[in-house]
Formats: sequence, C-alpha cells, structure tokens
Amino acid sequence: MIDNKRIRTSLCGTCLHSLADIWIDRSNQILVQRPHGDWDKWLAAIRALPDIQINRVDLDSSHITARSDAKVDRDVLAQLKQNLVSLHPWRKGPFDLFGLAIDSEWRSDMKWNRIKDSISPLDGRLVLDVGCGNGYYLWRMLGAGARMAMGIDPTQLFLAQFEAIARYVNVPNAFILPMKSEDLAVPGMLVEQSGFDTVFSMGIYYHRREPIVHLRELFIMLRPGGELVLETLIVGGQEDRELVPQGRYAQMRNVWSLPTITRLRNMLRESGFENIKLVSKCKTTLQEQRTTNWMTFDSLIDFLDPENSDKTVEGYQAPVRACMIARRPVGGLQYN
Ligand SMILES: C[S@@+](CC[C@H](N)C(=O)[O-])C[C@H]1O[C@@H](n2cnc3c(N)ncnc32)[C@H](O)[C@@H]1O
Repeated sequence: MIDNKRIRTSLCGTCLHSLADIWIDRSNQILVQRPHGDWDKWLAAIRALPDIQINRVDLDSSHITARSDAKVDRDVLAQLKQNLVSLHPWRKGPFDLFGLAIDSEWRSDMKWNRIKDSISPLDGRLVLDVGCGNGYYLWRMLGAGARMAMGIDPTQLFLAQFEAIARYVNVPNAFILPMKSEDLAVPGMLVEQSGFDTVFSMGIYYHRREPIVHLRELFIMLRPGGELVLETLIVGGQEDRELVPQGRYAQMRNVWSLPTITRLRNMLRESGFENIKLVSKCKTTLQEQRTTNWMTFDSLIDFLDPENSDKTVEGYQAPVRACMIARRPVGGLQYN
C-alpha cells in the first residue's frame, strides 16, 4: 500500500533522498505490525475504484479537483461514490472528482485561506506536513508551487483516503507515510543544511502530552533558515499559561493542553525558534466544521453548550485556533 515508487521519485534529487528507504521500511513495519482492523476492507475499496480518463487536475481552488474530457458514465460515478463512501468518515476536504463532491466535515480550504498569504512562498520548497490527515493540504501545497510535499499521519484510514484521491489526482511529488512525528527522526542522517524548507504542524500541538518535545521534533526536521507553520487550539489571555482540560475538551479525549499565545511564543523560543509571528487567530465556526453526508457523526454543534455557543459542553472556552510562523535560525543549535 505504501507507494514506494512515488516516495522514492518524490525524494529523488532532494537533500532528503537518503532517508527514503528508512522511512519506507519504518512505514511498512507499522502497517505489518499494527494494521487497522479495517485495512483490508479499505484496500479492497481502493482496488475497486473505477478507471476514469483524467484530463485536468486543479490543486489551487477550494476543491481539489479531477476532471475528464470524456463523459463519465452514471454507473461509473456510482461505483466511484460507493467505494469512496466506504472510506467514511471524510474529515478533511473538500474534493471534487468528476463532479462528485466530497463534502468533508472540515472546510479545510478555510484554514488554508487564512494562512497561505502569511507563510513564505512555497515555490520550489520541500515541505513536510506533520499530522496531515488525508493529505488535503499536501495537494494545496503543490498547487502553491512546492517542489515536494510529504505528509505523515498515523491514522491509516487517512492514508487510504489519500491513496484513493491520488488515483485520480495523479500528480507526482506528494505522498503520505503512516508515521507519527516521534518516528521521523533518523539520528545522524540529516547533515548540515539539509532538511525541509517548510514544516507544517496543524492541529497536533494539543494532542501531544509534551508539546515541547513535539516542537523539537519539528525543529530537527527543518533546514537552518527553514520555516515552521504551527497551528493549534489556544485559550485567550495575555499571561504565560495553559488550560489543562480535566477529562474531555469539546468531546475530544486526547486534548492535553491549550496554550495562550504568550505560552506558545515562549515554547517556540525555548525550542530554538526565532522570528516568531502570529498570523491568524479565529474562533471555529459552524460553517468550517460540521456534519455532512461524508462525515455523519457528531460535529462542532454537538460539542458546544446549546445555551451558550461561546462554551464547550464541558464549560470550557469554545474552540479558538491560532497559527504562528517561526524560523529555525541559521547556525546555532545542532540537529540531533
Ligand atoms: C486535528 S487533526 C489535524 C489534521 C490537519 N493537520 C488539519 O489541520 O486539518 C490531527 C491529526 O494528527 C494526527 N496525529 C495525531 N498524533 C500524531 C503524531 N504524534 N504525529 C503525527 N500525526 C499525529 C491524527 O491522526 C490527525 O489526523
């Protein structure tokens, strides 16, 4: 299922090429040792996707789109839909395959629009998206000119969704490995000046028990002078503090801490970053995160206090997200 050829080709000729085989081996080990119970079902769905002639692909609009000049038969579209639906729930998107719109839980294009003009232009850059979900942003990154976009995410369903989309959005230089950011570093392998030009970590910080360790993982993967794009849930206030939810936060079990912007700045500084800037801050809306036909479970509206939408059902501040950018200094701290 790991498309070795796609991965090797994407990394070929880059300063990361020597890591391809190590990352491929690690990913295959994960899939062999810890396959999801539905893995075979998902693989069967991908194999059953119909062959459709592809003439145009659009990576630079809200929907990641594939189009055919030939008329796509209704039966073929029905077969396409049936197999894609069996990869439910679709959390990230939207996608549009031959007129079939995948309306995901998240309008991920809204987050992309909030940050795309504030980050360093991606033209020609090697990009890593940590916790990439089904890879929606990888396609947008290529659409914004990135030379290569590598994603990692341990949720195997999202890898399956990526492979399904990649069947039709058949452009090279984007791929996903089913790894955690903890699995990525290869001691001694990154030499001076090598590393990714831009590393994204969006929606991961608060899932990590020790976020400072996560920030160091991101630092290590950047080349000196490279840019981090860090997006996370935050809490309001000027102080250097964090909210540590007791039990769930907005019904999520695995939210360990929500920092203030001040805490985030200090954590980034402590991890070795410089040029730290806040580029966006906004409350999550019911337009951006909602139940759809492609994600039929509960969503944001069910996680908010029905009497007061500024609060979660647990009584915490309703979700507010911020995006910071920061730079790995040139020189100074060493890699490993
Ligand atoms: C809230 S989603 C964010 C997805 C996407 N980055 C976005 O901003 O829309 C968190 C993602 O991180 C992944 N994840 C959780 N722990 C991770 C880890 N330690 N390393 C990498 N990814 C992780 C999850 O599987 C999930 O897809």
